Amino acid sequence: MRIDILTLFPKMFEGFISESIIKRAIEKGLVEINLINIRDFTLLKNGQVDDTPYGGGSGMVLMCEPVVRAIESVKTSESKVYLMSPQGKIFNDSLAETIYNNTKHLILVCGHYEGFDERINAFVDGEISIGDYVLTGGEIPAMAITDSLTRFIPGVIDAESFQNDSFKGNLLDYPVYTKPREFRGLKVPDILLSGDHKKIDEYRKSEQLRVTKEKRPDLIK
Ligand SMILES: C[S@@+](CC[C@H](N)C(=O)[O-])C[C@H]1O[C@@H](n2cnc3c(N)ncnc32)[C@H](O)[C@@H]1O
Repeated sequence: MRIDILTLFPKMFEGFISESIIKRAIEKGLVEINLINIRDFTLLKNGQVDDTPYGGGSGMVLMCEPVVRAIESVKTSESKVYLMSPQGKIFNDSLAETIYNNTKHLILVCGHYEGFDERINAFVDGEISIGDYVLTGGEIPAMAITDSLTRFIPGVIDAESFQNDSFKGNLLDYPVYTKPREFRGLKVPDILLSGDHKKIDEYRKSEQLRVTKEKRPDLIK
């Protein structure tokens, strides 16, 4: 999968692409992540990419020209383009799966300041939000979406652990424990030390149900 991220602040992604699982996925060629600086596409002097809003009001608005030119520099017939926006469709596991299954080339456009000139919407496939709160920019949402989609790619994480992850089959993951067997009086459930894998599987399934009912009853319809 190829993901192009259009941003005014590509340096914000340095740690994201150079550490841990995402780094390994890039190195193995499982995902290609490109960072495109929107500022490189302005036709104005001094790298100007934003201006004051028509009608007055506070803040600066991202201009059409540099954003649309940046999109057009990478867009192909296989691309899906989404603006990062608190007004967009809420990103969740189900939307992640839909995008993963239907997209070879994803373009995520990060806004900043007051957001995008409304007319940019005419050049994209939609808007995505990572939740009902407002961030200073679209960079963290683009990282969250890229990270989540990368986990879908076979070989990025262990297939069994992916299958049991929270939200698969509308259930949360079961609780996990590691050494030591006892920590400050809190013990690992005996069944997990029994070596009986059939019973452990049954126990974990029942724990998935219990935990989901407790923490996210809305997932169980
Ligand atoms: C300060 S926000 C602009 C908010 C805009 N004035 C509004 O209230 O709808 C600047 C940029 O951050 C990004 N952003 C902020 N919150 C977001 C969220 N919850 N999900 C996705 N992107 C977000 C968007 O790219 C947005 O253009």
